Amino acid sequence: MARVLLGVSGGIAAYKALELVRLATAAGHVVRVVQTETSLSFVGAASFAALTGAPVLTDELERDPARGAFPDQAPPEHDPLSHLELVRNADVYLVAPATANTIAKLAHGLADNLLTSAALAARCPVVVAPAMNDGMWAHAATVANVATLRARGVTVLEPGVGRLASKGEEGAGRLPEPGELLAAVEAVLPAASGGPMDGLRVLVSAGGTREPIDAVRYVGNRSSGRMGFALADEAAARGARVTVVAANVALARNPRVEVVEVETAAELQVACEARFDGCDVLLMAAAVADFRPARVADGKLKKDVVGDELAVAMERTPDVLAGLGARRRPGQTLVGFAAETGDEAVAYGRRKLAAKRLDAVVVNDVARPGAGFDVPTNEVTIVTAGGERHVALTSKGEVAAAVLDTVAELRAVASAEARP
Ligand SMILES: Cc1cc2nc3c(=O)[nH]c(=O)nc-3n(C[C@H](O)[C@H](O)[C@H](O)COP(=O)(O)O)c2cc1C
Repeated sequence: MARVLLGVSGGIAAYKALELVRLATAAGHVVRVVQTETSLSFVGAASFAALTGAPVLTDELERDPARGAFPDQAPPEHDPLSHLELVRNADVYLVAPATANTIAKLAHGLADNLLTSAALAARCPVVVAPAMNDGMWAHAATVANVATLRARGVTVLEPGVGRLASKGEEGAGRLPEPGELLAAVEAVLPAASGGPMDGLRVLVSAGGTREPIDAVRYVGNRSSGRMGFALADEAAARGARVTVVAANVALARNPRVEVVEVETAAELQVACEARFDGCDVLLMAAAVADFRPARVADGKLKKDVVGDELAVAMERTPDVLAGLGARRRPGQTLVGFAAETGDEAVAYGRRKLAAKRLDAVVVNDVARPGAGFDVPTNEVTIVTAGGERHVALTSKGEVAAAVLDTVAELRAVASAEARP
């Protein structure tokens, strides 16, 4: 259970914050809401008050009937200053949706309403979920403001890409879905105590990348993301803070896991590189394209124009895992996955272990029945410098548990070796 302070600013996506409150309270958290004046034109305070069971505040000079207490707390004897007391009690402060205007204020330290004053006073983790028109999101001012906040340690979520509120418009700027917001909030909370991976930050890649040929076609692979999601679920259950970089995964999202959506190898590379330095464990389960069309055709290639044969020149994509291995720091544990066919699979895994500076490679022979892509089961060999561990055909959840057991053993050995 956590105390979540939610700041709602004046964007069209404010209605999604209602669903977030419903999900958060259903998950056992307690929530207080502060709104900007403009946001009241989009969603009324009465809705948030009803869902949270607590008063909603807008103005710093307004008296808080709950005296800064969350619904699980007894109000103090005195009347504290709302902006100080609310963030003092909060475990996390989420601003969602965050308008371009509010982001600019946060970046510049303005404190002209309760939402921004509270942010300035906050010592708990702050998560900002932008939502705006794609032009506003891409504007140099917003880009700089977001960079400032991130450099200051604020978690600024990537907005979703797709249909925007204004009629007919598409692009980057959608507020992440309520389940994703909750996952992002839970990801920054101190992990539930008692888990064997308590406090560890785990970065997982999952799914299969798609490399566009033209506006409608792509070169892809059969990875469903099941193995990566099983790893993420298992790590979260063991108390880790988990982020999954998900390439085209159509599976249900775990609210305890932060999900970053990507499509191509290049997007996956950017997402993983941005999060790599902050992670303790990297589990690279995504099937990342080795080659992509060297040129993406404008529009859709027409068959009557192309003729009977279409030759698509392919170029190599960067090796994301090798790049991350090259810049690894002490204390990190890196696990790669190798989908191979035939007798040489394990030997290949061992070569990959050395070449990419990994701690373990999970090799699966994708030609075997019940193993590899798009099935709920897998059979793998986990290759480490010290030996090999075969995991017979079983559920991907069990395979994930075996992989994380190996990670725990590797980390125990590494920390023993690091001791003077
Ligand atoms: C219908 C409508 C929708 C809007 N949606 C957004 C939005 O999604 N994101 C955004 O940054 N601004 C949006 N705006 C502009 C903000 O409401 C405006 O910048 C306002 O000053 C934000 O105030 P606040 O940040 O204090 O809530 C919208 C304005 C209108 C009239």
